[in-house]
Amino acid sequence: MNDLFAEIIKLKGFAEKVFYGDVFGDDDIYEREFLILLNELSEEDLKEFYAVYPAHYEQYFTEQLKTLKPYEQSEIISAQNIIKKILADNPAGVEKMKIQREKDQTRIREYRELLKAGSEYSISDQDLKIPPPPMQKPLPPYPILIELPTDYKAAISNSNILDCINNRKSRRKFTEEPLTLTELAWLLWSTQGVHKIVRDTVSLRTVPSGGARHPFETYIIINHVESLEPGIYRYLPLDHKLLYIKSEPDLKDKMTKFAVGQKFVGHCAVCFIWTAIPYRMEWRYNLHAKKDILIEAGHVCQNLYLACESINAGTCGIAAYDQKPIDEFIEVDGENEMTVYLAPVGKYL
Ligand SMILES: Cc1cc2nc3c(=O)[nH]c(=O)nc-3n(C[C@H](O)[C@H](O)[C@H](O)COP(=O)(O)O)c2cc1C
Repeated sequence: MNDLFAEIIKLKGFAEKVFYGDVFGDDDIYEREFLILLNELSEEDLKEFYAVYPAHYEQYFTEQLKTLKPYEQSEIISAQNIIKKILADNPAGVEKMKIQREKDQTRIREYRELLKAGSEYSISDQDLKIPPPPMQKPLPPYPILIELPTDYKAAISNSNILDCINNRKSRRKFTEEPLTLTELAWLLWSTQGVHKIVRDTVSLRTVPSGGARHPFETYIIINHVESLEPGIYRYLPLDHKLLYIKSEPDLKDKMTKFAVGQKFVGHCAVCFIWTAIPYRMEWRYNLHAKKDILIEAGHVCQNLYLACESINAGTCGIAAYDQKPIDEFIEVDGENEMTVYLAPVGKYL
């Protein structure tokens, strides 16, 4: 590992800061220089470099490297000098990153608490006999509703559970082939479909949920689905219908941007966005709701992975996204309802 990169690796986040300019100043975007040096790293050094970053960065930089235009030998030296100079000229920026790292270490330990089972005594709204919140977000006035098919058999090309589990993997290269409405309905049903309503307040669905609280809403961003206009929709599990929310220009570019530049998240047939309405869970479990909500997002997405395999489509769970812009995009307030997980879906080659 050359010294410069060893130094950069110690400053976890350096590459990101050089790209986005938020430590070294908005004008200081040294993308090209950085990519030139990255391109010159040995395979082993690259591995070490990527190990410092979250998984999607490897994919991001790999994509960026494809856009790197040819360069002369002399540019390598000059790129190295530029990067060295950024570090030398910006002791405050470097210090800021070091402090950030220390802060992160403290927060990482705090966040581990989320993984533990709660043992604190707390009285929930259910204990106080307060009625439960609705199982599904209410409809707006004059809703535009789309009926969804329920006979999925025709859409399923592989109903062998062994194959579906064996073939499951995260797929990130989608064709432009549209999904049929039946295929989409199957995916929605597999992830949130309702089997039974009990006492008008509890729903039993195709996925499990602590106390059958089912804290999620499913928004879908449609690019290519037969007979549906591109736009933003919400699944209504109790009715097995889609609610049309709005159309938006540049859906693909916007979704790519919200997913921190992960292009396949925008360029898919349909992207699932799951939000949580925490109170549905808190009503029963109060302080202990948060862990359950996150566990349950995994159940939902795993069903999507397997249901996709059954129709020759693919998906990829996405936790790397920008919270505020995506919440605004689907018109949720980020406090009583917030995005927790995404999953682009498409046919693959
Ligand atoms: C919670 C979670 C978040 C993930 N976030 C991303 C992501 O933002 N970008 C991405 O490309 N892959 C993401 N993945 C997919 C993982 O990278 C993938 O599951 C892992 O590399 C293993 O590959 P496999 O799913 O093909 O077995 C995520 C997976 C999970 C479970």
